Amino acid sequence: MKTGDRDRSDAVEAVRSRADLREIVSEYVPLKKSGTRLRANCPFHPEKTPSFYVDPDKQLFYCFGCGAGGDVFRFLMLHEKWDFPETLRSLARRYAVSLPDHARSGGGERQKVLSVNRQALKFFRESLLRPAGERGRKYLSSRGIDRETAEKFALGYAPGGWDGLKGYLAQSLRKESENLGVLAGLLAKKPETGRTYDRFRDRLIFPIMSLTDEVIGFGGRVIGDAEPKYLNSPETPAFSKGENLYGLTAAREGIRREGYAVLVEGYMDVIALQQAGVTQAVATLGTGFTAGHVRLLKRFTERVVVNFDPDAAGRAAARRSLEILLENGFEVQVVSLPTGQDPDLYIRENGVEAYRARLREARPYIEFVTREAASRVDLGTSKGKVEALNDVLPFLARIDNPVRRSGHLEMIATVLGIEDRLILQELKTSVRERRKTVDRKSVAPALEARPVGEAESRLVRALMDSEPVRAVLLGEIEDADIDRSRIAEIIRGIRRLVDGSKKVTYPALGEEIGDAARDILTRIAATPHPPATPEEGRACLMALRAAGLQRQMGDIQRRLESEHDAGEIDQLLRRKVQLKRSMETLGDAFA
Ligand code: UTP
Ligand code: MN
Repeated sequence: MKTGDRDRSDAVEAVRSRADLREIVSEYVPLKKSGTRLRANCPFHPEKTPSFYVDPDKQLFYCFGCGAGGDVFRFLMLHEKWDFPETLRSLARRYAVSLPDHARSGGGERQKVLSVNRQALKFFRESLLRPAGERGRKYLSSRGIDRETAEKFALGYAPGGWDGLKGYLAQSLRKESENLGVLAGLLAKKPETGRTYDRFRDRLIFPIMSLTDEVIGFGGRVIGDAEPKYLNSPETPAFSKGENLYGLTAAREGIRREGYAVLVEGYMDVIALQQAGVTQAVATLGTGFTAGHVRLLKRFTERVVVNFDPDAAGRAAARRSLEILLENGFEVQVVSLPTGQDPDLYIRENGVEAYRARLREARPYIEFVTREAASRVDLGTSKGKVEALNDVLPFLARIDNPVRRSGHLEMIATVLGIEDRLILQELKTSVRERRKTVDRKSVAPALEARPVGEAESRLVRALMDSEPVRAVLLGEIEDADIDRSRIAEIIRGIRRLVDGSKKVTYPALGEEIGDAARDILTRIAATPHPPATPEEGRACLMALRAAGLQRQMGDIQRRLESEHDAGEIDQLLRRKVQLKRSMETLGDAFA
């Protein structure tokens, strides 16, 4: 082993012993105590009941839903999409572990961009304070931004002229500076001559920070009247507009405290709101809301109050943003301000208390959609009502909280003037039908992603190995016993072979089933095991059946808690009694 490697593995060990997995994980998802472990909704796959565990003694995490697991390094690599060296550097910085030189510098392009950005930020901030920064300071005060807020957001100024930053980088970074400046999107290159020049000129600079407090990019607002009004860093190895939200670092405390985020359109809105004490505001960076934003925001909240006009001309992207939020389980409300006003202007003219009142009056997005649909049709005719309904129902079906859904249904009926209880009943059924397809889509992959259980593989092996086991058990297995569709597929395949009087062998069964099921079968076949007896096979089946009954019971219980319809409740209670009986019978069979 080279000494360098040893130094590095020493550093890895030092980090491992100082880092606290629990502290780090809880910056991404709230952890709750569960016995000696801690539990949360898995940050790596969508789920509603927590199957992600952290063991603080062993300093390990594991998700029973998707199988992700490992130590603190693994967690950050998965979550931040860092490679190992990046993760090591970040943890070493955080826990004050010194790294050998070669590990510190880092070869990654992301690291290079981050280090150029750090230099550039220094330059922009210094420029704001220098005499030439007068324009920047004046502009800030004209927009009512005080010194403290400017410092909190590390605002800066890019002087006019073509090579202020270029010259600064050349001094601090020497020979590679031009290429690095271009890589970071801070210098632009004239295609004809290949000459580089400052991208940001005579602009107020908004550094964009990552959650680990690194400068990943910049936004710049004109001070004069050049175009465009806002200029952002291009996509670089460190910066992606679709993965970052402006102001999140400053807002995360506020979001946790208030329980929701306010989503606004602009840099200035975030800053003005923060200064006025509304600290839970974030903005996208001149794009719509993406799946990347969803992942990011979900670490902190699932409630968003959106403060931009979803119907302003040419704002199809804004609407799509709201739908992405809804589809991902967010509770979405819309706050409306008088036409043409953004939060910055509004609080300047009306004060922050008026704004807080608007926030309190925010309406669910679906209400917004309903009123809009209503305005497009003739509500005097039933054809009009049906048209409007058809526009609204898909949104309603995306909401998975039944209490909220049923409240919305009342609202829709009122807005569209549907008084007939029968029609309302029809509506409920139709939403429930739609939801079934929505649910299957979102839940099925997570279920199928679980590792195949021991009882399932033993049952399959027993069926494959022994004619007597098949004779006894095939007739006994019910659909509800097997909740994994691939295992069900395997069992159906075995039945077909038996019914067709064919030899039951792994290759023959392989012909009967699809690729995914065959993969599972291969894994089962590859595990060495003693030959199975009918007793053993039956024990597996009973264990699966018990688990199936438990699952159904849990499901019924959950539905009972949220169901309001008396007829439905009655049905559910009946099912519950039946289930209890089956469980007792099963208990007898075991005894
Ligand atoms: P707006 O044009 O609505 O401006 O852009 P604003 O935020 O109210 O700005 P002020 O108050 O005039 O300073 C909203 C957001 O859209 C993006 C920026 O992120 C901006 O904050 N944008 C806008 C661009 O990326 N480029 C542009 O040219 C304009
Ligand atoms: Mn504005």
